[in-house]
Amino acid sequence: VRVAVLISGTGSNMAALIEAGRAPDAPFEVVLVLSNKDEAGGLAIASAAGVATVAIDHRPFGKDREAHERAVDEALRASGVEVVALAGYMRLLTPWLVGQWAGRMLNIHPSLLPKYPGLDTHARAIEARDAEAGCTVHLVTEGVDEGPALAQAAVPIVAGDTPESLAQRVLTAEHNLYPQALADFCRKLH
Ligand code: GRF
Repeated sequence: VRVAVLISGTGSNMAALIEAGRAPDAPFEVVLVLSNKDEAGGLAIASAAGVATVAIDHRPFGKDREAHERAVDEALRASGVEVVALAGYMRLLTPWLVGQWAGRMLNIHPSLLPKYPGLDTHARAIEARDAEAGCTVHLVTEGVDEGPALAQAAVPIVAGDTPESLAQRVLTAEHNLYPQALADFCRKLH
């Protein structure tokens, strides 16, 4: 299955997906990394790994979100992509793009959804004195962080945790969970 990964920043999940897609028995391959920011660090990592990259800056499109998304969608189709994996892609999607990829677009979110959709998940989990935090891979639907969960992983919250220390622990779990969940999803696709 040909997969595109959409990023806006560091791309550590993206790197984990590229690597997993190169395992001999992997049911998917990352064929394109697309960023809405040309300064995203993940683009250089993807290029160095020999994966095609494209940056489609949202800023020149101003308030016309759909026009930006049409450019994104064209790039995805030009690469023969079948499944889209959002990985730290920090743009809200319109119903139009979600509709184009319904049932074939995944996201990873750094909380145990339905807890803590949106931003600042780690600070909120610490503030609430939760015993554990984690991450969720889910199908993308119109509501932000609302689509059906495909997989979850939990990690403990320990005494003295800061949002940063907890984020690091969760991120390590993300790097295991996302490749597994994407592989399971792709095996069932055809
Ligand atoms: C991850 O924590 C992801 O769950 C969140 O943004 C972060 C992206 O990190 N949505 P990276 O770019 O994959 O390193």
